[in-house]
Amino acid sequence: MISGAKNAVLPIMAATLLTSEPCIIRRVPNLSDVRFMAQILESLGATVRFDGDVLHVQAAKITGVGDYELIRKMRGSVCILGPLLGRTGKAMVSMPGGCVIGARPIDLHLKGLKALGAKISIDKGYVNAAVRKLRGAELFLGGRSGPTVLGTANVMMAAALAGGITVIESAACEPEVVDLANFLNDMGAKVCGAGSPTITITGVKKLHGAEHEVIPDRIEAATFAVAAAATGGEVTLRGARPDHLHAVLDKLKEAGVTVERSGAALNISRKGKLKPVDITTLPYSGFPTDVQAQIMVLMALTPGISIITERIFESRFMHVSELARLGADIAIEGPSAIVKGGGHLSGAPVMASDLRASAALVIAGLAARGTTEVSRVYHIDRGYENIDGKLRKLGARIERTEAP
Ligand code: EPU
Repeated sequence: MISGAKNAVLPIMAATLLTSEPCIIRRVPNLSDVRFMAQILESLGATVRFDGDVLHVQAAKITGVGDYELIRKMRGSVCILGPLLGRTGKAMVSMPGGCVIGARPIDLHLKGLKALGAKISIDKGYVNAAVRKLRGAELFLGGRSGPTVLGTANVMMAAALAGGITVIESAACEPEVVDLANFLNDMGAKVCGAGSPTITITGVKKLHGAEHEVIPDRIEAATFAVAAAATGGEVTLRGARPDHLHAVLDKLKEAGVTVERSGAALNISRKGKLKPVDITTLPYSGFPTDVQAQIMVLMALTPGISIITERIFESRFMHVSELARLGADIAIEGPSAIVKGGGHLSGAPVMASDLRASAALVIAGLAARGTTEVSRVYHIDRGYENIDGKLRKLGARIERTEAP
């Protein structure tokens, strides 16, 4: 069963700060990033309670500015800026640094919030934002690598409580942005056009509590689909949304993988030979950067040459040197990885560097001969709910030697 989407639930949790009333969020994945975000909300004065995969949050009053240490640790926490500005007129978050996948600036977030009237300064590593009253504006949020997902989320949340109309041009079209817009609308906001490059938000005076079910995680679904293809196995993805997975399923089919719909589930299997495919990561509805590392493993197992080009994050190839330890033949040429596939992978100790790279290493380990030991698996627990348990159910021989 596919869990709720990490990248949808994080901004939705942040959006609960926009109202003093209780919110209920369903299908919340049990992830360390989610627990971090819950602690951040608590440090801002909200009461937070998990009841299985149901999260109850109420930010009756915003007290304080949040726990910097927590905010610093999780890049996704940048999306508290918009709701805090909207609700209280001030916000402070630690300026996120780069990470292993690239520089990760937040200039577009700040540009958008400034356009709504916020005064922003950066002092001692912190972003300080303040405004008497946010006012709607027309703004363009496209950057060098296309739109920004969390930047769009931030501006949408701030604009929900601004005076007047905000139009975001070159908005991110990801399903997670649509899920957030649906939640905001359930709270009484007026957001139109989410899922397209133009989003219009008509500010309202107040938002109320709402109940929402998070969309299924398309990246988790894609990861399991690739794992089945890489191991020559079969998987039934229950609860996945095929309409969120077009680019991934299309490439899998092109590579010779069988993709079948059966009612509400998706069946992925590999019966015949694999074929190499070239892939370029792009903003939605293009091929997701968050599946680039996993599909590279599949291509490393596929006879022939494939070129995988990363267009979203500048240095998201940390997995390449680890895959080489398993015997993969991959060369980096600028933003592209040239994969000479078809050789056998053989198990080795490898180290996870980020969330999706760790998923790729797990898939490689399952497909490799012998035993692979992946260290620093805390990266994987940030974004995959019980990945080892789910894989074991599918017949994988995988065990965790350290408690999560
Ligand atoms: N960018 C800027 N300026 C900004 C913001 C972004 O230049 O102010 C650039 C980035 O450097 C990057 C591109 O724009 O080159 C796209 O970045 P985006 O802002 O869309 O990324 P994000 O919102 O910070 C989310 C996901 C990522 C996912 C990206 C792209 C969350 C919590 N994170 O990040 O997820 O890779 O969108 O789809 O939603 C993951 O789950 O493993 C992960 C990294």
